[in-house]
Amino acid sequence: MNASESASVRRAIIQHLETDRQLGVRSVPILLPGASRVSRASTEDRAVRLAALNEGFVRDCRKCALCETRTQTVFGSGNAAARVVFVGEAPGADEDRQGVPFVGRAGQLLTKMIGAMGLDRKGVFICNVLKCRPPDNRTPAADEVAACSPYLLEQISIIEPEVIVALGSPAVKTLLSTTESISRLRGKFHDFYPSGTPTVGPVIPLMPTFHPAYLLRSPDEKGKAWSDLQMVMKLLGLPPRTS
Ligand code: URA
Ligand code: SF4
Repeated sequence: MNASESASVRRAIIQHLETDRQLGVRSVPILLPGASRVSRASTEDRAVRLAALNEGFVRDCRKCALCETRTQTVFGSGNAAARVVFVGEAPGADEDRQGVPFVGRAGQLLTKMIGAMGLDRKGVFICNVLKCRPPDNRTPAADEVAACSPYLLEQISIIEPEVIVALGSPAVKTLLSTTESISRLRGKFHDFYPSGTPTVGPVIPLMPTFHPAYLLRSPDEKGKAWSDLQMVMKLLGLPPRTS
């Protein structure tokens, strides 16, 4: 696709999503012109769909009260065809200021953890459950998660990663609909259903692990997080490395 084709596809997708929204449809697969149901979407098609989701819906979203206090939304960043998606909680002060996820102190640790896996931020996709910063970095409220999580589910459906790493409790709770603690859930893969039901569509293995902000407070737990990430590397067929 050239630039003007991309722009017209983007406009068409925004219109399509807008019509769906008016009809009350929350999530539908979008087939781009030329894309078939069997062949996997190209990286560029996914990038166009992510951009359409961001520009058409997330950037100016006012679905919850966090729109009143944010500086800007933080959509997520990285590769639209990433093999692994990292999901955090919500933007903090640095992310709210820069519009990029995981750039503060916890973000720098996450960046190091991704590097230790033999990957980099450009190769993976990083986002959060909430796209706006909660004041004083408080834990996301249930109504905020309910309002915002359809965007996360749409991002995952567009990217179709081979594995998801859920960082911390809000991400795990949102994606697995569980109240179990991270300590009990981490160390093994759990089934994530992008469609919301096990009988429709694909299953994506999801690894719960500790949030890097928690690891900064409890460095003794870093070994467990590294062991979780090594399981992810093994699943992806990445060569073993020492952290
Ligand atoms: N913590 C998160 O959960 N997400 C960010 O983007 C930054 C810090
Ligand atoms: Fe919209 Fe999510 Fe921001 Fe709430 S947190 S205003 S739902 S983008």
